[in-house]
Amino acid sequence: MKTIIEPFRIKSVEPIKFTTKEERIKILEEAGYNPFLIHADNVIIDLLTDSGTSAMSAKQWAGIMEGDESYAGSKSFYKFESAVKKITGHKFIIPTHQGRASEKILFTILGGKGKFIPNNTHFDTTRANVEFSGAEAVDLLNEIGKHPEIKADFKGNMDIEKLEEFIQKVGKENIPLVMITITNNSGGGQPVSMQNIKDVKSICIKYNLPLFIDACRFAENAYFIKKREKGYENKSVLEISQEIFSYSDGATMSAKKDALVNIGGFLSLNNDELAMKCRNLLIVTEGFPTYGGLAGRDLEAVAQGLEEIVDENYLHYRIRSTEYLGEKLVNAGIPIIEPPGGHAIYIDAKRFLPQIPPHEFPGQSIVCEIYIEGGVRGVEIGSVMFGKYDENGKIVSPPMELVRLAIPRRVYTQSHIDYVAEVIIEVFKNRENLKGYKIIYEAPMLRHFTAKFKKINYETKKNIFLF
Ligand SMILES: Cc1ncc(COP(=O)(O)O)c(C=O)c1O
Repeated sequence: MKTIIEPFRIKSVEPIKFTTKEERIKILEEAGYNPFLIHADNVIIDLLTDSGTSAMSAKQWAGIMEGDESYAGSKSFYKFESAVKKITGHKFIIPTHQGRASEKILFTILGGKGKFIPNNTHFDTTRANVEFSGAEAVDLLNEIGKHPEIKADFKGNMDIEKLEEFIQKVGKENIPLVMITITNNSGGGQPVSMQNIKDVKSICIKYNLPLFIDACRFAENAYFIKKREKGYENKSVLEISQEIFSYSDGATMSAKKDALVNIGGFLSLNNDELAMKCRNLLIVTEGFPTYGGLAGRDLEAVAQGLEEIVDENYLHYRIRSTEYLGEKLVNAGIPIIEPPGGHAIYIDAKRFLPQIPPHEFPGQSIVCEIYIEGGVRGVEIGSVMFGKYDENGKIVSPPMELVRLAIPRRVYTQSHIDYVAEVIIEVFKNRENLKGYKIIYEAPMLRHFTAKFKKINYETKKNIFLF
């Protein structure tokens, strides 16, 4: 059959509250034109993130009831440990409340001033935890991954030559570990090939460095390998995942993505001494090693989610539904990062709104307009999120101005996605009338969460320039 159906029936539903365009104009104005400050109840389709927003299965909910809440040695922990070991093969499995808690523990122990952590692209929380420890987070993405308009199979790959050059430049004694993020969230959810993981591993072996995987979306990455890399077409996603982890010495994981839960994570490792240090810190910051930062019921849900995520019918539907939204937008002439990644579509705001310069936040303008048009919430990933001020107070913009539409797992159906496409196409038709924004309030750190904006009045602006 040509039609790919959602590989589940819907047993429990959550009503969507509808708002009118007039109501949304008012809601957005009251939120200072920042969709982070809108009550989720006033959002029709929420594509702010795919993290912690999955719909759990009947078996996961059943696991919630089965949860063993014993402080030490809970049977839910052993179920969780065995589910994680089945995929990663790692010796020590440490539960944490989410991905960043694993990162915090790992880099508190291995980071520090004078140290460098190379990655294809560090996710924000990984970078923040590396830098908080005093170390430097270094992105070594291959060139092709930096070009939104170029289509390629593995745009998340690490630049192998740059990695080796970098190790030689700073000295292997200053690199406690090398990391690969699969899929590369900050670079558009693009996958990393098995060959690239193997190449990184051989460099790690050559310089005797441990390799860690940021594994949030390991199953989506494994599915891309199955579909795109020669020699893997007949392997199962579980086998491919096991092979990926077999090249690694450890992993950090946010279970809020590819473990299909609303909260959870883990740190997995092979090194005895490092595991002991991590567990000691875990006790101070998260909890006893058999529950970490989680309840027994959460451990059950993660264990079950890890079984379900490697189901290829699920992954086929998942990757295709992201691609389906991408195709609809591309067919309407809307510029996006191509090809679509696993968990999100990234609109290229620079090409969508060439009339709005980066310092007037074209991505924010699209985010506001799609909310007003159809109650769809996305997030700006550009000058609002990553722009910095220079010594003259001018905004220095990042290379790309993007709008991310992240798709929660198993939550929306094809007609929801059709609706999203319709809303964005409508905004695109009206793109010439869209205006830039200026910031009227911002916090000193991570400003995108709480910033308030004002639409730029170009008439007044013209007058300022004239007089
Ligand atoms: C690649 C990547 N690493 C780490 C994290 C952090 O995970 P968490 O939000 O569970 O702390 C995320 C979250 O979005 C991510 O996408």
